[in-house]
Amino acid sequence: MKKVHVKAGGSRDYDVTIGRGVLDRCGELLSPLFGGGKIAVITDTNVAPLYLERLKCSLMRAGYEVCSFAFPAGEQSKNLSTLSDILEFLAESKLSRTDAIVALGGGVVGDISGFAAGCYLRGIKYAQLPTTLLAFVDSAVGGKTAVDLRAGKNLAGLFYPPVAVIADPGCLSTLPGEILADGAAESVKTGVLSGEELFSLVEQGKIMENAERIIELCIDYKAKIVALDEFESGPRRLLNLGHTVGHAIELLSGYSISHGCAVSAGIAIITRAAARLGICCYADCKRIIAALKACSLPTETHFRAPELAEAALSDKKRSGSKITIILPRTIGNCELVEIATSELCGIIEKGLCPLEE
Ligand code: GLY
Repeated sequence: MKKVHVKAGGSRDYDVTIGRGVLDRCGELLSPLFGGGKIAVITDTNVAPLYLERLKCSLMRAGYEVCSFAFPAGEQSKNLSTLSDILEFLAESKLSRTDAIVALGGGVVGDISGFAAGCYLRGIKYAQLPTTLLAFVDSAVGGKTAVDLRAGKNLAGLFYPPVAVIADPGCLSTLPGEILADGAAESVKTGVLSGEELFSLVEQGKIMENAERIIELCIDYKAKIVALDEFESGPRRLLNLGHTVGHAIELLSGYSISHGCAVSAGIAIITRAAARLGICCYADCKRIIAALKACSLPTETHFRAPELAEAALSDKKRSGSKITIILPRTIGNCELVEIATSELCGIIEKGLCPLEE
C-alpha cells in the first residue's frame, strides 16, 4: 500500500491510498476521517453490480449505516438533472452535516458526487473511490468537481477536495477497452508533462501491464501540481494539455466521442501545431504521436479548424479575447502560451495536417 499526500491547504490536505485490496478496507481507512454516522455511496449502473456490495460490506463492518444511489452510466448523466436527483436522494436519506459521501466510479461519478458533496448542506465530507484508469490517473485527485451544461463540458462546478482518495488498481480488471482508452490518453498527457520516467512507460502502449506504476507516477505528478496551484490560476493549467481541442471535439460530437479519444486527438493536434510553429522538436512530436497510436488512441479528427476553434472558445478556459493553450516543447517540458482568440483557428489548422514522415 502506498500513500501520496496532497497539499490542498492545512485541514484540507488529504492522502491518496493506492493498493490492491484497499476497496475491502475502505471502512477502516475512512472511519478516522469521517467519524461515525451515515454514508451515501454514489455510483453508476455499470459500477454498482461490480463493486457496490463489497464497498457496502466494508463500510458496514466499520459500523456505518450505508445507503446508495446509482444513476445511468455515461457522460450524458453528468448534468444538473442528475445532480438534482442526487441532492434529493441525500435529503430523503436524511444525511446531516456529520454524514458523508463516497463516490464509487469513474470521472463522471467522481465529478458529480464531489459537486453534490460541496453544495449539499453547504458542504459535507466525501471520499473518492475511483474505478477507472482516467479517475485513478487524473480526475479523482485534485478536488475538481463539475457537471456539464448545454454550452459545454464541466461549465458548473466547485473546487472541493475530498478527505481521502482510495485507489484499488484491482478495479481495473473489469474495465472495458474503450473506457481504459480514456485513462490511457490522460496517462500519455501526464507522461508528456512530467518527463521520461512516465513517458517511456506509456509509449510502450502496455497500459494494463504497467498500470500500477503508471497510476503511482501520475498521482505523484498531479499531487505536486495541485500543491503548487490548487485553483488552476498557474501551473495546474498544464494539465489541460490537449483539452482545449479535446473538449471541442467532445462537444461537436454531442459527446459520442469519449473524453479520452477526444483528448488524444487534441494532444496530437496541438503537438503537431507546436512542431510547425518551431516550438516542439519534430523528434519529440513524432514520439508523442507514436505513443498515442501505441495505446490505440486517435491522433486525428474529421472536424475542421473553424468549428473546432468556435467550440473551443465556448470553453471556460477562455478569458475575454485571450485563451491560454499548452504547447509541448520537449517531453517533460510544456509551456502555457496566451494567444488572442482570433489566432486559435490558425493554430488548430496547423495541427490538423499530418506531419511529413
Ligand atoms: N483534470 C485536470 C485537473 O485536475 O486540473
